[in-house]
Amino acid sequence: MQNLYLKPHGTGGRLITFCGLDGCGKTTMIGRLVAAMEKEQQVFLTKQPTDFVRRSDIFRTYMDSPTHDAYDYRSLSLLAASDRVQHTNKAILPALKEGKTVISDRYFYSCLANLRARGYREDRWIYEIAESLIKPDIAFFLDAPVDVAVARVRSRAAEKDRYIDMELQYRLREEYVAICEACGGVLLSTEESPDETFEKILARVKALFSDTKARTSFGNSLAKDGAANE
Ligand SMILES: Nc1ncnc2c1ncn2[C@@H]1O[C@H](COP(=O)(O)OP(=O)(O)OP(=O)(O)O)[C@@H](O)[C@H]1O
Ligand SMILES: [Mg+2]
Repeated sequence: MQNLYLKPHGTGGRLITFCGLDGCGKTTMIGRLVAAMEKEQQVFLTKQPTDFVRRSDIFRTYMDSPTHDAYDYRSLSLLAASDRVQHTNKAILPALKEGKTVISDRYFYSCLANLRARGYREDRWIYEIAESLIKPDIAFFLDAPVDVAVARVRSRAAEKDRYIDMELQYRLREEYVAICEACGGVLLSTEESPDETFEKILARVKALFSDTKARTSFGNSLAKDGAANE
């Protein structure tokens, strides 16, 4: 697994991303992180891919149906990659330049994981596109066994009968772990309680803020509090 080269953003802001299987806990942990940060930080919460891709027929076909014969997966991957280039450089980067903390629910790593999990392991273009994107300050990868993650998805009323390609989930989980290792991400299990996982997330975020020259009130107040999950 080759490292994905993403360039430093070189701004006063901070980019924190969350990736992992559906149901691994991204939105839950992001909700807590935003609540903890926004009293003292300007937080820009966003998600990838954007609704532009989520609403497209090709995306919906892949997400909602076992039959994808009408579409080539690389076509969807390129559409999602295009969306991420646009969103990262025209929505995330400007917010970082304003000094904001940007939290992204999924990031470009998800594009790579999905492409590889679908068998396109030798495609080079994904690495070339990555070079025009920016590297997160912390890239969290939340990990749970496939049956646990799928059970969480199925527990949502609207998704209890949703089509889920189980074999794909197993391959995706492996890809996320490998990408995390290759790209210097932070791998956290969400098999433990939400409180325990969040404590680890907040400790990492606190370290990011207190580590840097641009010491912020958020980092300082958390350091003073000493309580990781407040
Ligand atoms: N340690 C944990 N961390 C996060 N969530 C957990 C943990 N333990 C249990 N959960 C539960 O797992 C579920 C995760 O759902 P959530 O919507 O956050 O997942 P997601 O990764 O955003 O899924 P999707 O990709 O489908 O949007 C929640 O109901 C949450 O309470
Ligand atoms: Mg979610």
